[in-house]
Amino acid sequence: MHAGNTGGSNGYYQQQQHWGVSQKDRVRRGGDRRSRDVRGLRVSSMAGESTAAPPCTDFDVAYFHSYAHVGIHEEMIKDRIRTETYRAAIMQQRSSIEGKVVVDVGCGTGILSIFCAQAGAKRVYAVDASDISVQANEVVKANNLSDKIIVLHGRVEDVEIEEEVDVIISEWMGYMLLYESMLGSVITARDRWLKPGGLILPSNATLYMAPVTHPDRYGESIDFWRNVYGIDMSAMLSLAKQCAFEEPSVETISGENVLTWPHVVKHVDCYTIQIHELQSVTTRYKFKSMMRAPLHGFAFWFDVEFSGPALCPANYHAPSSLTGSLNNDSINGTQSKKRANPNEALVLSTAPEDPPTHWQQTLIYFYDPIEVEQDQLIEGGLTLSQSKENPRFMNIHLEYASGGRSFVKESVMR
Ligand SMILES: C[S@@+](CC[C@H](N)C(=O)[O-])C[C@H]1O[C@@H](n2cnc3c(N)ncnc32)[C@H](O)[C@@H]1O
Repeated sequence: MHAGNTGGSNGYYQQQQHWGVSQKDRVRRGGDRRSRDVRGLRVSSMAGESTAAPPCTDFDVAYFHSYAHVGIHEEMIKDRIRTETYRAAIMQQRSSIEGKVVVDVGCGTGILSIFCAQAGAKRVYAVDASDISVQANEVVKANNLSDKIIVLHGRVEDVEIEEEVDVIISEWMGYMLLYESMLGSVITARDRWLKPGGLILPSNATLYMAPVTHPDRYGESIDFWRNVYGIDMSAMLSLAKQCAFEEPSVETISGENVLTWPHVVKHVDCYTIQIHELQSVTTRYKFKSMMRAPLHGFAFWFDVEFSGPALCPANYHAPSSLTGSLNNDSINGTQSKKRANPNEALVLSTAPEDPPTHWQQTLIYFYDPIEVEQDQLIEGGLTLSQSKENPRFMNIHLEYASGGRSFVKESVMR
């Protein structure tokens, strides 16, 4: 693997990659660390520094390569709930952005960097390891913002910014919140550059799960085989279940599919979360079905909140286990459908009862439904862990029990 640098004009710095590997469908990016100057702000070598960045693997290369395609950016930008909530949040926090230095972690086409410039930022470092940063730089130039936005082509783990920043903005959320493992790069940016008391947008995130019934989906994919043009094709059932439900399914459901209040799987405070906490997330849950229905599996969704720094100063990165926990009692009904939001912070929600986003919801279906009565308990445990093979994949270990029967389902989100 060889990476070379090409210093560009207008504050754009490219790190060209020449990977001796085939590029896979969903990856890409780059990381050399030689010096160059950005309008008097030095972007310098990290060689010899003690904190080594994690290596850029073939999986990372494929990941960044996937973000060089226009389609993925078109889908994200056309998701108005996503993009307009980010813009509204940036404008709401204008007083913390005006005249300040911002880093956009994973700038893509540069849209969030431009929103920050429109909100009055003094300087925005727009960092992306994907080749999409070439277009981001062109977009910045075309909008006469080259004096404010400095596009850096490289990993946040590798590029050097030789000043502290006041604000970090990033759209890092993957399916089921943690898929893609991009949050680690936001944490790296925070620990490298954020000033004490600085702002992170979004400031926190919550992953939820709830049991669901989805007879239509089950009928279309499975029961369909029972009678095909009058022919009994039940012999197909086991293959159909395997093919339809082996892996998590990203699809849109409605609030009517959900059988109880959700359970909080993980709350992430972006000011305090540590990278090691993301390697594996475990929770135990206990639901009481609010109706009689066939239970087909669990749905997962998340929301993120855009508020200012909470109780902790930004440079105090205490483990989130020390910063208090949420009320997460889905049984006694003391957990509301959404977390308390006393500051009226803007929330970007991907919940089934809210307008759909490109994240939709993620469903883990059982191979066979369980008939549950009203008030019947559904309980078990869940572990989400980064795949050892490719940390951007997520291993899902789900244990569930109801009505005296218990099951384990292993799946991989890849
Ligand atoms: C979900 S997209 C968001 C793009 C843009 N901010 C937007 O909101 O439209 C995430 C972007 O982050 C980039 N990215 C992910 N991890 C990165 C890292 N460690 N360093 C630099 N860029 C990264 C990806 O290449 C991708 O373009």
